[in-house]
Amino acid sequence: MTDNIAATSPASGIPSPADDYVGDPAVRAEWDNRYAERQQLWSGRPNGALVAEVAGLTPGRVLDVGCGEGADAVWLARRGWDVTALEVSGVALERAAGHARDAGVAVHWVHAALTEAVLPPASFDLVSAQYPALLRTPDAAAERALLAAVAPGGVLLVVHHAGVDTRQADDSGFDPADYVWPSMVVDALDEDWEVEVDEQRPRVAPDGGAGAHHSDDLVLRVRRLR
Ligand SMILES: C[S@@+](CC[C@H](N)C(=O)[O-])C[C@H]1O[C@@H](n2cnc3c(N)ncnc32)[C@H](O)[C@@H]1O
Repeated sequence: MTDNIAATSPASGIPSPADDYVGDPAVRAEWDNRYAERQQLWSGRPNGALVAEVAGLTPGRVLDVGCGEGADAVWLARRGWDVTALEVSGVALERAAGHARDAGVAVHWVHAALTEAVLPPASFDLVSAQYPALLRTPDAAAERALLAAVAPGGVLLVVHHAGVDTRQADDSGFDPADYVWPSMVVDALDEDWEVEVDEQRPRVAPDGGAGAHHSDDLVLRVRRLR
C-alpha cells in the first residue's frame, strides 16, 4: 500500500494501517468511522450504471475514484481492466484488498484523497467516480483532477444519486452545496471534451447496502477528444 502510484506494485497486498495516506486526516477519519460502524457498508455488487456504461468499452487502464469496499474495482479487474483504485478510508481499502485477493485479481491501491494523490496525468482510458463524496472547492480542484486523469480518447464517468444536489442542508450537517455534482464537472469542460451521456435515469439498484433506497441516478459520461 502506498499513496504514490508510481511506487505501487500490482496486487500490492492488504493496506497497512500505518501506510502513508495523503490527504486531509479529518476526511479520512470521517470515512473510516463510517465504514467501521458496519462490517460491510455497501452491497458488494458492482454499480449498475458502471456495468451499463462500460459494456461498449475495450478494457484498458481504469481509475476508480472513491472505490469504497472495492466491488467495482474487482468487477473491472475480472473483466480485464488494469485497475487503479483510490480511496481515503483505510478501513474500506482493507476490505477492498481482501475482496480482490479472494477473487484472485490484481488492483493498484492508492490510499489518498483525489486532489492530493500522485497520479500519472492523462493516463486512464476510463476514470470512474461512482457516488463520489468529493468536497467542492472554489478552484474546482476535484473536477479538474478527475478530468486531468483521463487519457486522450478516454472516458470520464461520474454517477450520483439524483435529487440530492438540489436538497437543502439538513440538521445532520449534510449540505449538498459542499460537494461536487455531475453538473459541476460539465461546467469544467472545455472544447477538448464531448458529452456523450448527461441524464437522469432509474437506478439499477443493488440488493442491500447503505445506498439502496436511492431510486434514480445522474449519469455523466464525457470523452476526452485530445
Ligand atoms: C458514497 S461512497 C461510494 C463508494 C463506492 N464508489 C461505491 O459506489 O460503493 C464515497 C466514497 O468516496 C470516498 N471519498 C471521500 N472523499 C474522497 C476523496 N477526496 N478522494 C477519494 N475518495 C474519497 C469515501 O471514503 C467513500 O468510500
